[in-house]
Amino acid sequence: MTTRGVPIPALETRGLTRIFGEGDRAVRALAGIDLTFAAGTFTAVMGPSGSGKSTFLGCVAGIDRPTAGRVIVAGQDVSDWDEDRLARLRRHRLGFVFQDFHLMPYLTAAENVGLPLRLAGQRPNRRYVLDLLGRVGLGNRAGHLPGQLSGGQQQRVAIARALVTRPAVVLADEPTGALDSASARGVLELLRDCVDQLGQTVVMVTHDPVAASYADSVIFLVDGRLAGRIDAPTADVVAARQAHLDELVVAR
Ligand SMILES: Nc1ncnc2c1ncn2[C@@H]1O[C@H](COP(=O)(O)OP(=O)(O)OP(=O)(O)O)[C@@H](O)[C@H]1O
Ligand SMILES: [Mg+2]
Repeated sequence: MTTRGVPIPALETRGLTRIFGEGDRAVRALAGIDLTFAAGTFTAVMGPSGSGKSTFLGCVAGIDRPTAGRVIVAGQDVSDWDEDRLARLRRHRLGFVFQDFHLMPYLTAAENVGLPLRLAGQRPNRRYVLDLLGRVGLGNRAGHLPGQLSGGQQQRVAIARALVTRPAVVLADEPTGALDSASARGVLELLRDCVDQLGQTVVMVTHDPVAASYADSVIFLVDGRLAGRIDAPTADVVAARQAHLDELVVAR
């Protein structure tokens, strides 16, 4: 999408701020984040535990309300939208992988994956759902309930669910956090394909430098602020920067 030849970013934040609580107990989880994510790019978000990564994704997805600042999706400022409009935006444009999966316990893996389509009033195509489950290595688990799946398998169901509507923007919170390295590689290649083959925009929180190396760029958060960026990241360069930031945090 362009306006007069200038591409419209998939996602922008301006002065994004989120403060939890009040008075002495107030926690400034996001302290004014300005970021632009071009369409068709893969960005990794890294930073120490508690640096605001999940809060950032939640605010961008309209699951959480920023205290101040703007969120702009495909050129539209959605900051003041009401819940219904935000829900429709999520349903049609965004795919979200939660840090703790959020699967429906009484639905099978295939039904969980198809759920976003049902919520959007469409009938899931069974072959497409099974194909997506196959791509995350769960072709033989379609009929299982979440309680019958391992943590890593549940995480992969959640990833397939986030991709099923082919959303313009995929927001993934540590999507490989519970996975062994072979499963993680499969998921990262799938996310890379979303960007390279379907032109989707992926924003992925991770603690893993190898996972981050699949992205086009890495941004670092510390204490709710931007603390650096690496383009064309390699795992080694990312790991070195991560170690440096961890030292700064420990030294305080
Ligand atoms: N609902 C909440 N109420 C109060 N404080 C919160 C809430 N959610 C998050 N915080 C605080 O905001 C800060 C950022 O939290 P956030 O979950 O975004 O961190 P994170 O970078 O995702 O960490 P991790 O790597 O451990 O997942 C933390 O200090 C956290 O304690
Ligand atoms: Mg988090």
